[in-house]
Amino acid sequence: MINLKTDEEVEIMRESCRLAAEVLLMIDPYVKPGVTTGKLNDICHDFILSHGAIPSPLNYRGFPKSICSSVNDEICHGIPSDRKLRNGDIVNLDITTYFKEFHGDTSRTFYVGSPRAKTGKLVETCREALQRGIDAIRLGGKTGDIGHAIQKFVEPRGYSVVREFCGHGIGKNFHEEPQILHFGNPGDGVKIQKGMVFTIEPMINLGGPDLRILPDQWTAVTQDGSFSAQFEHTIHITDNGPDILTRLNGQTQF
Ligand code: MF3
Ligand code: CO
Ligand code: CO
Repeated sequence: MINLKTDEEVEIMRESCRLAAEVLLMIDPYVKPGVTTGKLNDICHDFILSHGAIPSPLNYRGFPKSICSSVNDEICHGIPSDRKLRNGDIVNLDITTYFKEFHGDTSRTFYVGSPRAKTGKLVETCREALQRGIDAIRLGGKTGDIGHAIQKFVEPRGYSVVREFCGHGIGKNFHEEPQILHFGNPGDGVKIQKGMVFTIEPMINLGGPDLRILPDQWTAVTQDGSFSAQFEHTIHITDNGPDILTRLNGQTQF
């Protein structure tokens, strides 16, 4: 069942989503060589609480921290720890806030210091892949149009799309229907309707698409050890097309 949101609900979601985006903007100057992912977690945690919200990941299905931090070959759901970031690393910080009973979900990949050229191209391709997915949204079109647009942008450039994780409806629940695949055929999936709110969050690998889960039972890493990037927005479908709830106006967090 897909929960279509009323205009009133969307206005609350807009606040939750704005806060999540502001977390990414706030944390940017701290993402430097030498910082630990645990320290980044703690700064985000305090910021979210001080704005009257709760970090959705904390205790979600037993997740032990307030944000996900996924470094280099980690695809997603990395657990913040005492790992120190080093020059040339990349790290995805995935922020989800729970505010006035609604979740807002956004993530970006940051450069730690200066990236190698190959890493930079991966990250920029992923950033653009998310935008291509958003641009494929048509009222009355299908969710599969989004995944198709992402796959056809990414694969010819020599990268692979992760299959095991997808975008998702979001609202009073962290994860709702529909699933938004980041690959597939146009016309697949469900009809895109006014009032839907869902995320698009492509994970793109420098090598092959396969993954394994670390013994911590959360962290997904690439099977071949290649670097992986991810960007995520929460998007509201209106009569006039997509309304990106996690994009700040004026300033940009990515
Ligand atoms: N924020 C992630 C997503 O984009 C989900 C994280 S679940 C957690 O859907 F438990 F790992 F936090
Ligand atoms: Co998400
Ligand atoms: Co997320």
